[in-house]
Amino acid sequence: MTADLQSSVRGAVHLLPQTKWLRALHTVIRDRHADRADFVAGAGRVIRQLVESGLELLPFEPSDVKTPIGETYHGLSITPRICGVSVARAGESMEAELRAMSPGIRIGKILIQRDKVTKLPHLYYSALPQDIGDRHVLLLDPMLATGGTALTAIGVLLDEGVPEEHIVFVNVLSSPEGIEAVHRRHPAVRIVTSSIEEGLNANAYMQPGIGDFGDRYFGTDAVR
Ligand code: URA
Repeated sequence: MTADLQSSVRGAVHLLPQTKWLRALHTVIRDRHADRADFVAGAGRVIRQLVESGLELLPFEPSDVKTPIGETYHGLSITPRICGVSVARAGESMEAELRAMSPGIRIGKILIQRDKVTKLPHLYYSALPQDIGDRHVLLLDPMLATGGTALTAIGVLLDEGVPEEHIVFVNVLSSPEGIEAVHRRHPAVRIVTSSIEEGLNANAYMQPGIGDFGDRYFGTDAVR
């Protein structure tokens, strides 16, 4: 990566503060012996922090309220023109935390799978709010590995008229390769992540990584 690209990436990537609490949560969910309940609970807590940071990047509007003693509090409300879009299946694990923070939010869905022959990501299905082009979008997928799925998902949003700078891509783990792939093609897309990993192994799993996030979250991994 050139120095210019590196400094541009730094502006686009929002890494959660690496607190001891966050590292403790990662210790739970990265443990190969974690049972599913601990994995789901730990991942949910990390995702809540990520969604909060993602929402922080969206526009807020002034909102004054009267306090019980008749004074004015000059506050803020997040713009109502937001929505979530989850990339099925793993991204669905992030919907509950987004809903907890913004109960009425619209959530679209995109299903992308790698073609067994060409190995290229293929779009199978999308269901998005009709006016998504006028909204700010939190794109939800816990794993940014090679970047292939992310690029396809971002392409779907752009085709629907969402400006690149209105997309905040929220994930639990990112690889340097995935960040670079997304940033090179879409420099205005912001990426919020809780960890930048060391890299990818030969099977495109992140290292040190977490294994297959969707299988572990939904319980479709090998029965122990
Ligand atoms: N998808 C996963 O679930 N894990 C990885 O490490 C990479 C892609």
